[in-house]
Amino acid sequence: LRHLTTLENLSRDALERLLDRADSMREATAHGTRKLDLLAGRTVLNLFFEPSTRTRTSFELAARRLGADVVNFDIGFSSTTKGEELFDTLHTLEAMHLDAIVVRHKASGTPEELVRHAMSGVAVVNAGDGNRAHPTQGLLDALTIRHHHPDFRKLKVAICGDVRHSRVARSDVHALTTLGAKDVRIVGPASLLPPEGELKGVSYHDNFDEAIEGVDAVIMLRLQKERMAATDLPDEAAYFERYGLDARRLARAAKGCLVMHPGPINRGIEIATEVADGAQSRILEQVGNGVFVRMAVLAEVMGR
Ligand code: CP
Repeated sequence: LRHLTTLENLSRDALERLLDRADSMREATAHGTRKLDLLAGRTVLNLFFEPSTRTRTSFELAARRLGADVVNFDIGFSSTTKGEELFDTLHTLEAMHLDAIVVRHKASGTPEELVRHAMSGVAVVNAGDGNRAHPTQGLLDALTIRHHHPDFRKLKVAICGDVRHSRVARSDVHALTTLGAKDVRIVGPASLLPPEGELKGVSYHDNFDEAIEGVDAVIMLRLQKERMAATDLPDEAAYFERYGLDARRLARAAKGCLVMHPGPINRGIEIATEVADGAQSRILEQVGNGVFVRMAVLAEVMGR
């Protein structure tokens, strides 16, 4: 694996190898308390043009736990504010001898553009581009589910909320369907679902009470207000009534259904506090798995 821009074209073997490697990273670091030196002497640059708490921090921790040097590029204090174009910024940073760039950008396709324009052979890892892909989130969600349900042939999953604007949903669908999940349902109001047929191997639903019946995992998504016109925003109370996850609705899922959310969560809009903090919540487990997945990806793209 030279770059990771999307999960769309990765085989089942490739995905399983990354998940297995993430598990190995967990063991090798004694669950995250020990450092390795696999990437000693390498440099990773975090290039985030959109805000992030989980992804940026866990890429930084992942790189440091593998012994790499990390540079967090601060867009707000960079020369992009003086009009420098993306590819000039790229070439400037490449001239400082980087081994990997982790990029998040609001424009879909930016990671591939960086791959095309890079002059030094630097590895590019997508940390989220527009509504298109968030491959390490797709991997960490699959890893979290796999720990509880190793046999994906029996697995039923509902992904509920603003699927249309969600790069997480797209990468989750690509991961889960490639890994052989039995039944993947996407749920939301028609205005927040992708056009029919865009996502392959899933069923589309607008009734959450029906769609959550019997699922083993439910992945809740926030309303991506930053990607919507203000006039398209639903009334939040009415939205929670139809698409919010509360204890009553969760009771319709399979016993022990995993409650998942990529974060950041908006309590009382897509998820009730009683469920987000409840016994079935795996939200913080997802966050922890993010470090192991990102260690695996960084090691793979840098050929170690
Ligand atoms: N899940 C996720 O991408 O969260 P951040 O925006 O905090 O990185």
